[in-house]
Amino acid sequence: MSPAAKGPVVAVSGLDDVIAAETVLSHVDGAAGRLIVRGHDLEQLAGKRSFEAVLGLLWQGFVSESVDEADIRARLGQARVAAFAAAAPVMPAVDGLSAVEALRLMLSALPDAATVPAHHLAVAAVPVFAAAIARRHRGLAPVAPDAGRGQADDMLRMIRGVSAPDAHVRALETYLVTVADHGLNASTFAARVIGSTRAGLVSAVVGGLCALKGPLHGGAPGPVLDMLDAIGNPANIRPWLEQALAGGERLMGFGHRIYRVRDPRADVLKAVAGELGRGDNRIGFAEAVEAAALDILRERKAGRTLDTNVEFYTALVLEALELPRESFTNVFAAGRVAGWTAHVLEQEKSGRMIRPQSRYVGPMPDQRDAA
Ligand code: ACO
Repeated sequence: MSPAAKGPVVAVSGLDDVIAAETVLSHVDGAAGRLIVRGHDLEQLAGKRSFEAVLGLLWQGFVSESVDEADIRARLGQARVAAFAAAAPVMPAVDGLSAVEALRLMLSALPDAATVPAHHLAVAAVPVFAAAIARRHRGLAPVAPDAGRGQADDMLRMIRGVSAPDAHVRALETYLVTVADHGLNASTFAARVIGSTRAGLVSAVVGGLCALKGPLHGGAPGPVLDMLDAIGNPANIRPWLEQALAGGERLMGFGHRIYRVRDPRADVLKAVAGELGRGDNRIGFAEAVEAAALDILRERKAGRTLDTNVEFYTALVLEALELPRESFTNVFAAGRVAGWTAHVLEQEKSGRMIRPQSRYVGPMPDQRDAA
C-alpha cells in the first residue's frame, strides 16, 4: 500500500520519532546512550581505529574501489593535493567571511563531476580548505598537503605549518572518528535529501555544512568556550547559569533530540581532553560548570531530561589542540563529512527521492478567485 493510500499522516513538529530512512551506517540508542557505527560500538572505534579505517567501514558496499585503510589513505592524500590546487583561485573571495561561511563558499566552488571521485574529493577538501581558511584569517599563506600522511596528521600540519606531536594527532584522530557519523542528524538528513534528487555528492555536502553551522547543531562548541570564559571563576558558575536560563538562553553543550541520558561521545572526548590537559585546571573548571548546569537544568526543566552532549567536551579537546575557536565547526565538518558522503552514497544506491508533504493551514481561495 502506498503511503498516500494509508491516508494523511499527522504533522510532527521537528519530525521527532519519524523514521525517514533505513540505514546500515549508524544507530543512535537514545535510551541506553549508545552509538553503533556499522556494527561497532563507538568505544571500539574511537582511539582504536584511524579516520581512514572508519571511512572504509562507512563506504563499504557503496563504492566500487577498495576500502582498505591503506588504499583510502593513499587516495585521500591524492585528493587533498587536488583540493589544494582547486583552493587557490577561490581563496581571495573568503576575506571578510566567517570561517564556516568561507568553507561553504570554497566547497561550493568544487565541481560535482571532477576527475577525482567526488567522495574522495569532498572528504579531502574539508580539512584542506579549513586549514587554508584558518591560516588566511591569521594573515598566513596556506600550507600544501603532504599526500603521504593520514588525514588527521596532515590537517594539523596544514593548520600549524609544522608537524604536530603524536599525542595531538591521536587526539584529533579520535575526535574525527567520534563525530564521523550519528544517525539521521539534521545535517545528514539535509545531505540525504539533496542526494536523493541526484544533485551530486558535492552539492549534498555543501547542504550538510549549511545545516551543521547552526548553533543548535555543529555551531555549539565555540559558544561553549565563550560560556566558560564569560563565567570566568568558580564563584560565578551558578549565578551566571541561573541568569542565562532566566533570560531564556540555552546552555550550549547540553540537551539532545535523541539522547535521554548522557551522550556517549561526551565521555570519549572528556577522556581525550583530560589526556591533553592544558595544565591550568581548565578541565576541572569545565567539570564544575557541567555539574552545576546539569543540576540547574534538572531543577528548571523537570519534565525533560537534559544531559551533556558531544559539543561540551569537543570544545575542550579542540581548545587543547590550540585550534582557533572560529574553526571549530569546520573541524567538526572534517569528521562528519565521512557520514554525509556515506549516507548520500547509500541514499543514491537504495533510496527514493525524499519528498514529504506539508499540511496546508492557510486560507482557501474565496468565490471571487474561483469565478
Ligand atoms: N539549555 C536550556 N534549555 C534547554 C536546552 C539547553 N541546552 N536544551 C533544551 N532545552 C529546553 C528547551 O528550551 C525546551 O524547554 P521548554 O519546553 O520549556 O520550551 C525543552 O528543553 C525541550 O527542548 P527542545 O527544543 O524540544 O529540545 P530539542 O530536542 O529540540 O533540542 C537541542 C535539542 C537543539 C540540541 C537543544 O537541546 C539545544 O538547543 N541545546 C543547546 C545547543 C547544543 O548544545 N547543540 C549541540 C547539539 S549536539 C549536535 O548537534 C552535534
